[in-house]
Amino acid sequence: MITGNYYEEQNRVISIKEVRNHVFSVWLESDKIAETSVAGQFINVQVGDSEFIEPVLRRPFAIASVEGKKYEIIFHEVGRGTEMLKKLLQPGKFASVLGPLGNGFDLKGSDKEKLLIAGGLGIAPIKRLMEKYISMGIKTTVIWGNRDKSDFFDLDYYMNQDIMLFISSDNGSIGFEGNVLEMLQSEIRNSRIETMDKYDIYAVGPTPMMRGVAEYLLSEGFSCQVSLETPMACGIGVCQGCAVDKRKEPGYLLVCKDGPVFDATDVKF
Ligand SMILES: Cc1cc2nc3c(=O)[nH]c(=O)nc-3n(C[C@H](O)[C@H](O)[C@H](O)COP(=O)(O)OP(=O)(O)OC[C@H]3O[C@@H](n4cnc5c(N)ncnc54)[C@H](O)[C@@H]3O)c2cc1C
Ligand code: FES
Repeated sequence: MITGNYYEEQNRVISIKEVRNHVFSVWLESDKIAETSVAGQFINVQVGDSEFIEPVLRRPFAIASVEGKKYEIIFHEVGRGTEMLKKLLQPGKFASVLGPLGNGFDLKGSDKEKLLIAGGLGIAPIKRLMEKYISMGIKTTVIWGNRDKSDFFDLDYYMNQDIMLFISSDNGSIGFEGNVLEMLQSEIRNSRIETMDKYDIYAVGPTPMMRGVAEYLLSEGFSCQVSLETPMACGIGVCQGCAVDKRKEPGYLLVCKDGPVFDATDVKF
């Protein structure tokens, strides 16, 4: 797992686009954050500016893509913090950002293909990982699942990448009918996805989805890397507010500092 220095910067907002209802893709310009980040790391952004006193806390978001000094976050407006963020992140404005934070994905070499599994907005860190493996010329398969067809965005972008892409929706309105785990199991049965030991596997999404995928893989004798989301305050290992239990022994790990990426064999989640 990769970790390094982080910076506190004022990052200029380049663009904000509503990619689907209440989900926004934002490009920001950084001094060092983009260039020093690795896939799986995140930023912690102050959601209010000087006009707003509350909420004082920052909010964490995965770095979804990087181009030179520019980087993308994709965020879902789910509460007060992200509602304020949407208002703050207007082109030309500046946001106070801490990053890059946490440990990124453990990048593996070309001896195995890569299988990246995203549920919902888990596609944000998976996008960065996918782009990295494409740039390394490594054969990559992406499974992306959502509840409904309307939850997907930028599908043209993913369909035009040099990857094998599988889509699932819980209600069958697009792609495979079922969740990503059911799709994975189905694709293994019909051999479009071959034996699991051919792949390095990564899964990011809502906790029940990651748990389901991880427990299935562990029961079959495999593992995967997961990127956990817990409520966070400091984001830098000080407040202990993001602890998760270790799987094999007593004790805990901090999602912000020891993660957010973990091997599924190391954490209970
Ligand atoms: C390392 C990390 C990376 C993340 N990356 C992304 C991302 O790329 N895109 C994205 O949309 N979201 C991401 N999140 C989740 C995001 O930080 C929360 O959705 C956001 O902080 C909610 O703020 P709010 O004030 O709008 O919501 P609140 O009003 O605080 O809460 C609204 C709802 O969101 C839930 N929630 C709040 N904080 C979190 C959290 N940290 N994790 C999970 N659920 C939460 C609450 O339980 C509640 O149900 C990430 C979280 C972490 C820890
Ligand atoms: S958020 Fe403070 S220790 Fe992790």
